[in-house]
Amino acid sequence: MNKPISIAIDGPSGAGKSTIAKTLAKKLGFIYIDTGAMYRAVGLYVLRRGVEPTDLAGVEPLLADIDISIAYEDGTQKVFLNNEDVSDKIRTPQISKYASDVSAHVPVRLKLVELQRGLANSKSVIMDGRDIGTYVLPDAQLKIFLTASGEERAKRRYLELTQKGAVCSLEEIARDMAQRDENDSKRAFAPLKAADDSIVLDSTTLTQDEVVEKILELYNFKCED
Ligand code: DC
Repeated sequence: MNKPISIAIDGPSGAGKSTIAKTLAKKLGFIYIDTGAMYRAVGLYVLRRGVEPTDLAGVEPLLADIDISIAYEDGTQKVFLNNEDVSDKIRTPQISKYASDVSAHVPVRLKLVELQRGLANSKSVIMDGRDIGTYVLPDAQLKIFLTASGEERAKRRYLELTQKGAVCSLEEIARDMAQRDENDSKRAFAPLKAADDSIVLDSTTLTQDEVVEKILELYNFKCED
């Protein structure tokens, strides 16, 4: 069997990582791994237990009771929290905030990184997150740091949420997003940051197809024999 290939896609929220990574995974026949969903599942558990997500002393003892796993249904990643499918329940603004807060705790990260590395061990993967190129998979054959202007990212997230029927304002989304990016970039351990050997792609003025095309070109150049 050929050695598995890893592609890391990192970047701030709303840059389009998950849509792009899903499309690429389909085209290349790789497994797509959404690591943010794992932090979200931990955030949901912490919320249900009534613990403050910023409180390490409150969060750490809960970790032993949390089992996160992923499975695929028709190629779509499903996330399970203690065997409960929470894939839809983790997509709320409150869980976005909880996920960002719990993700700053080292014990939370170490638990999830072990799971993420295990998944990439035996299969070719496209993994998206914040620290995949810098920390989780430092030997990934291709590392992309996908970004876009704050305004564009907020607009995209606004459209995504309102299309699903959510009632929200663009200003509110832009503010929450900026706060979360600041949290994720400023944490001490494995913060959101471009790896030195990553390729930075600014998607502000690009369509999704154009971004996918660019990454495929880079993949063919760097990873194909
Ligand atoms: O990608 P997302 O918005 O679903 O991620 C939710 C939060 O999880 C994000 O604010 C930061 C955290 N996260 C992280 O710290 N490291 C990752 N590899 C993925 C997500």
